[in-house]
Amino acid sequence: MAKITYIEHNGKSHVVDVPNELSIMEGAVQNDIPGIEAACGGACACATCHVYIDDKWFDKLPKKEDTEQDMLDVAFEPNKFSRLSCQITATEDLDGLVVKLPSKQA
Ligand code: FES
Repeated sequence: MAKITYIEHNGKSHVVDVPNELSIMEGAVQNDIPGIEAACGGACACATCHVYIDDKWFDKLPKKEDTEQDMLDVAFEPNKFSRLSCQITATEDLDGLVVKLPSKQA
């Protein structure tokens, strides 16, 4: 279980307990958090689960696969803290993770 804070583009935050083995994307979708579309259902094929990782957390995450980077290249306004939330799995190590949502998805 990891307590994840999702911050919408307008600044509204949502704190959710995401069980281990669920992705950060699934944690958002299952809790009706606006701003994550997840059109491909987590197959790393749509880039509509794009989030910006809080800078304090970015280096603590598992590294990106090439396929994730390829999809991030077509995400809406990616930056150096961008990740696809479907590619990050909740674990105890991510307890307290903060992610920010873009103003729109790709
Ligand atoms: S849900 Fe489609 S890339 Fe993450």
